[in-house]
Amino acid sequence: MILLDGKKTATDIREDIKNEVAELVKQYKRPPHLVAVLVGNDPASLAYVKSKERLAKKAGFTSTILHFDKAVSESDLLKTIDSLNRDATVDGYIVQLPLPKHIDEQKIIMAIDPDKDVDGFHPVNLGKMIAQLPGFLPATPHGIMELMKRYKIQTEGKNVLIIGRSLIVGRPLSILMSQKRPGGNATVTLAHSRTQHIKQLSQQADVIVTALGKPHFLTEDMVKEDVVVIDAGINSIEDSGTKSGYKLVGDADFENVSRKASYITPVPGGVGPMTIAMLLKNTLEAYKLNMRKNAKRTL
Ligand code: GUN
Repeated sequence: MILLDGKKTATDIREDIKNEVAELVKQYKRPPHLVAVLVGNDPASLAYVKSKERLAKKAGFTSTILHFDKAVSESDLLKTIDSLNRDATVDGYIVQLPLPKHIDEQKIIMAIDPDKDVDGFHPVNLGKMIAQLPGFLPATPHGIMELMKRYKIQTEGKNVLIIGRSLIVGRPLSILMSQKRPGGNATVTLAHSRTQHIKQLSQQADVIVTALGKPHFLTEDMVKEDVVVIDAGINSIEDSGTKSGYKLVGDADFENVSRKASYITPVPGGVGPMTIAMLLKNTLEAYKLNMRKNAKRTL
């Protein structure tokens, strides 16, 4: 079994980004600027946003968190989005999901300038992804593709089972992996909460991606020998053996599934760090785009 080390791979990618930023700053006179909009105090969202900020700064970016009370109105949030769109010193930004129930997530995502949508959630970017045009790919699927590419995982003609159809992971990944591209050319099945006989499907799969948010969902009896397992689940479960009383686990029963797998991602240290690395990569691209636009404006 080979561990797909997302932590190490992401560190390498962030190092490359840092070096590129150091070069570009000489030319453009300021670093890339990433903004994260956070609403409320959900501990997981808070932790994600803080990591994104820390690693952005480590790569030489400017990073700002706009933290709103959970009671913020939809119209106030839309005003913030509008000012971020107009602010030439902001290259890219994300709105951390989920948002409180009184805010229409789709309406917020639609208001983001697609050129600053470094999460790749705007329909313009999702459309470009489907058409295989240049645009921002959603960070987690992009990170999974990059991790598989760097470990030379063969997907061409393989049976891939993706479990979970979220807009953030499963749905876009199912498209990318079925496309004619590196890490693609696979026969993809997208399973979800209404899927029947999942065990029959998983036992036939050469590659399984779990993205459903259920600890220990994928068990040893569900997979064939030499399967590749990409675990995009991040679940916090009680554990009396840790200081906090909690620990992070994926959607796969790592200890047992890893005995049969040829490759597997750990949680933590697998897909999670790759997501952030890809967010920074998208932000670097957004910065270059913004700088070219600004240069045109001053001509
Ligand atoms: N919530 C869970 N994952 C993500 C992500 O990648 N981006 C945003 N904006 N929210 C998330």
